[in-house]
Amino acid sequence: MSRRPRDSTRLIRAGHPRGPLARTVGPPIQKGSTVLVNAAAALYDERRPTYGRGGLATQHALMSALVELEGASAVRLFPSGLAAMTGAMLAVLEAGDEVLVTDAVYKPTRRFCNRALRRFGIAVRYYPPRTKPNDLMAMASPATRLIVLESPGSLTFEMQDAPAIAELARARGILTLMDNTWAAGLFFKPLERGIDLSVQALTKYVGGHSDVFMGSAAARDDRLAEALDHAIWDFGWAVSPEDAYQMLRGLRTLPTRMARHEASGLAVAAWLAGRSQVAQVLHPALPGAPDHEVWRRDFTGAAGLFGVVLKPCHTRAVHAFLDGLRLFGLGFSWGGFESLALDCDPQFGVRVQRPRFAGPVVRLNVGLEDPDDLIADLERSLKFLSDES
Ligand SMILES: Cc1ncc(COP(=O)(O)O)c(C=O)c1O
Repeated sequence: MSRRPRDSTRLIRAGHPRGPLARTVGPPIQKGSTVLVNAAAALYDERRPTYGRGGLATQHALMSALVELEGASAVRLFPSGLAAMTGAMLAVLEAGDEVLVTDAVYKPTRRFCNRALRRFGIAVRYYPPRTKPNDLMAMASPATRLIVLESPGSLTFEMQDAPAIAELARARGILTLMDNTWAAGLFFKPLERGIDLSVQALTKYVGGHSDVFMGSAAARDDRLAEALDHAIWDFGWAVSPEDAYQMLRGLRTLPTRMARHEASGLAVAAWLAGRSQVAQVLHPALPGAPDHEVWRRDFTGAAGLFGVVLKPCHTRAVHAFLDGLRLFGLGFSWGGFESLALDCDPQFGVRVQRPRFAGPVVRLNVGLEDPDDLIADLERSLKFLSDES
């Protein structure tokens, strides 16, 4: 008679699900580093998952939903939006290459370019975000391998002619990569417009609740998808199934939330444009705002993130205005349900060409609160600005 295994053995073998799982609306949160195979012959079968780092059911569900959103050959996940930007760059660049980067790029992406890329022998040059596509191509050298776009720039909101840049770059054999976080993968489709790699900080609008980090890189073709795969395997990036589940949950309501962000953002922007304390509103979807025509031609909607140029005033006055806000939190992120504000000028010093505005720039993330309440909050606080000027 066979011996009954002891508790320590039985507890390790017990408690595994039997048979298929009940169907739920969302995918299962499948956790696992080890993947069990059915037979020794399958251990080295590369057609099947043999290890959990590349993602299991939950991450695959999110990736396939993002393929749908981006119209991509494949989408890969990264532990943050910044990691998606840096990972996509590392996937396609090698020593001796040069990359042209918009001067409006998100500051930590710039830091990566300046510190990490240069250390690995990759040259980096910055171009003014409104450089005409032909002039940008004239800047390219035989070593130029990649052009990085961010449109609109997430602090100063310059729009780029992404389709024209993509077309000209392709003709020269240069790849294009766009940080498309502002459009949330919804209002602009980079891959459909010729861009090779579309990156999003899912942390922002897709997550939508300011509590999870993740980024995605969408590849236009299988060759680029393979390059992303190699980078992911070689560098060892992984995202947790819990976080992937949260992102997938966010995706379900993304279009509904974005419609509200867009409408409220435009209402607040239009109101601000009429205030005596405001010199200019930097919101590409606002008629008359800088680059509105490019936005109207290429985009189908707008995020709730935009800039406000105040009439010239002391930093003390800007702080009094920001500190007086009750419904806008002070913070660096955006894309969440809550409204946020920050002053932008301290970040302009890193640029090759410091942007010139009539006065200090404040950035607002218009959340899902009632826009009339937000306007009332701004109206009250703008008075502190006048008091301190
Ligand atoms: C335009 C843009 N891209 C990328 C990121 C990076 O996202 P994460 O915070 O998930 O690294 C941010 C974050 O603020 C951003 O504003």
